[in-house]
Amino acid sequence: MRDKIEQLLAEVEQLAARKEQELEEIRVRLLGKKGSITQLFDEFRDVLPEQKREIGQVLNKLKVAAAAKIEELKAVIENSMEPADSQYDLTKPGDKMELGARHPISVTRAEIISIFNKLGYAIAEGPEIEDDWHVFGALNFPPEHPARDMQDTFFITTGENPILLRTHTSSVQVRAMEKMKLPIRVICPGRVFRNEAISARAHCIFHQVEGLYIDKKVSFADLKQAVLLFAREMFGENTEIRLRPSYFPFTEPSAEVDVSCNICKGKGCNICKGTGWLEIMGCGMVDPAVLEASGIDSKEYSGFAFGMGVERIAMLKWQVKDLRLYFENDVRFLQEFDTVV
Ligand code: DAH
Repeated sequence: MRDKIEQLLAEVEQLAARKEQELEEIRVRLLGKKGSITQLFDEFRDVLPEQKREIGQVLNKLKVAAAAKIEELKAVIENSMEPADSQYDLTKPGDKMELGARHPISVTRAEIISIFNKLGYAIAEGPEIEDDWHVFGALNFPPEHPARDMQDTFFITTGENPILLRTHTSSVQVRAMEKMKLPIRVICPGRVFRNEAISARAHCIFHQVEGLYIDKKVSFADLKQAVLLFAREMFGENTEIRLRPSYFPFTEPSAEVDVSCNICKGKGCNICKGTGWLEIMGCGMVDPAVLEASGIDSKEYSGFAFGMGVERIAMLKWQVKDLRLYFENDVRFLQEFDTVV
């Protein structure tokens, strides 16, 4: 069987070679030195002058057509002699498509949003390029506050109300208070920018989710409850929270929120530096001056706010040791998280 196939294969190849040879013979017969078309050119000398132009044209046409046809047939024969594997093989499997993965920051942000959606928070977004009023002024930062310092903020313009890259998503809080009808219950996810040296623990670009709830009779107990529900959804149902007094210009009183370490369950390990607690966000009751700056009557309304870094939440949840890994986009790293949610 095999011999027979090889024999036939040789015959096919010979056939092509024979055809090529035949074609070459035809070419010589027509266009060679003594070919019939070449001879016609010799005879052309004797054509009457008044017929020269007309006959010359058809003769040239004939020569060009013959040469073109021969070239065309030659190409067909050459193609048919190419080895089979250079032709399309429709039975071959397609190229493997490598699937990417969602980024851990997207996964984490989606999870934070989904938890607060369940608590009735809508999503609000604002511009990344902001003015000083929305990032600082309306949030009760005095003019000389060091956060405005060139070391922290990327300024685009300077002057009366400078344009800058927002350093936190609290600016969206201000825009929500300006625009939305009360009561307000929103979360504001987004990208923020700070003039920081890039290291394992800091980057000049990162992501925050800000939360804001304003209504009549909103209390610190409501804030604590919202934070506790979030912490347990995010880090597990046995998670405890701890609020430490802190300071932010836009909240009074203010607090830092810690969650019990999900690695050592509060016993103390090197992730929580032996304390049993991990800091996850800042929060507080919206300062009456901030409500008033956005035209809300602080005698009638009160509210709480909180803000967290998405990179930090993701690092604590999955023990990512170096922030820079989020920016490298190595799919092997990314694929570890896409299965989580
Ligand atoms: N804006 C703060 C920051 O970027 C985070 C923050 C703290 C937001 C307390 C809040 C809050 O809304 O109440 O560091």
